[in-house]
Amino acid sequence: MIHSRSKIVILTGAGISAESGIETFRAEDGLWAQHRVEDVATPEGFARDPKLVVDFYNSRRAQLPDVEPNAAHRALARLEAEHDGEVIVITQNVDDLHERGGSQTVFHMHGALKTALCAACGHRWPAPIVMAPGDPCPSCHAPAARPDVVWFGEMPYDMDLLFRHLSEADIFIAIGTSGNVYPAAGFVAEARRAGAHTIEFNLERSSVGNHFEEHRTGPASRTVTDWVEEFLRG
Ligand code: NAD
Ligand code: APR
Repeated sequence: MIHSRSKIVILTGAGISAESGIETFRAEDGLWAQHRVEDVATPEGFARDPKLVVDFYNSRRAQLPDVEPNAAHRALARLEAEHDGEVIVITQNVDDLHERGGSQTVFHMHGALKTALCAACGHRWPAPIVMAPGDPCPSCHAPAARPDVVWFGEMPYDMDLLFRHLSEADIFIAIGTSGNVYPAAGFVAEARRAGAHTIEFNLERSSVGNHFEEHRTGPASRTVTDWVEEFLRG
């Protein structure tokens, strides 16, 4: 039942940032076509060649000042500002476009390029533009700085909190995610168990597209903007 105080939980993936010029992962020319996941997005890869991994994230961090939030990011911020009910964004993306687009409640379940993490003590701090392997932690001073990004095989952040939000969702929306990576790909099933109305925004059906009750097909900058306008007009 959708009403004026509905709780809306939104999962986003690389596709929402595609129109801002940030490559997705599994497109033909995507990030995983240019880099072996095993080399740049696993703890083993980091142990094997920390400089390769740190430079991979340095290059993605250096791109951020050159890209802007697009209409889809701004539409989600407008929804959060104007809707009476709670609006929660859970992103798999490590860019900062949701925040720069105006969203206030954003959970980065795969981490964020803008922060650094100490592998020794767990301290986080604003990442330098260029991180080097062995950079010291400003808290414990161990030479243990790493990108604050969740790699394959590691557990995403805040899972208990995210599953609580899903259990309270009246509307669950997934935008620009291929549905290939768990636990994010399982969120729609959780939301449906909670009785939420589910909508997928994508260029095509994702791997879990059949779990969604509604589909809005096309570029997120148009489909998300149109849906928010419709929803707020009631
Ligand atoms: P997974 O098995 O859930 O991922 C399945 C999909 O991820 C695969 O179908 C493939 O598309 C991709 N994938 C996983 N490992 C891969 C590999 N070695 N080479 C190529 N593609 C690969 O992944 P997982 O290991 O169970 O991930 C555990 C957690 O890590 C997940 O919860 C996920 O949220 C997180 N994660 C984060 C990132 C990131 O870059 N932040 C990347 C991947 C996974
Ligand atoms: N509008 C809407 N959807 C789009 C757009 C767009 N303009 N452009 C691309 N998409 C869709 C694609 O159809 C695809 O389904 O975005 C999705 C991107 O999928 P992936 O590249 O697999 O990215 P994502 O789903 O975020 O990957 C999940 O896997 O490798 C890990 O950590 C990485 O967080 C990532 C996770």
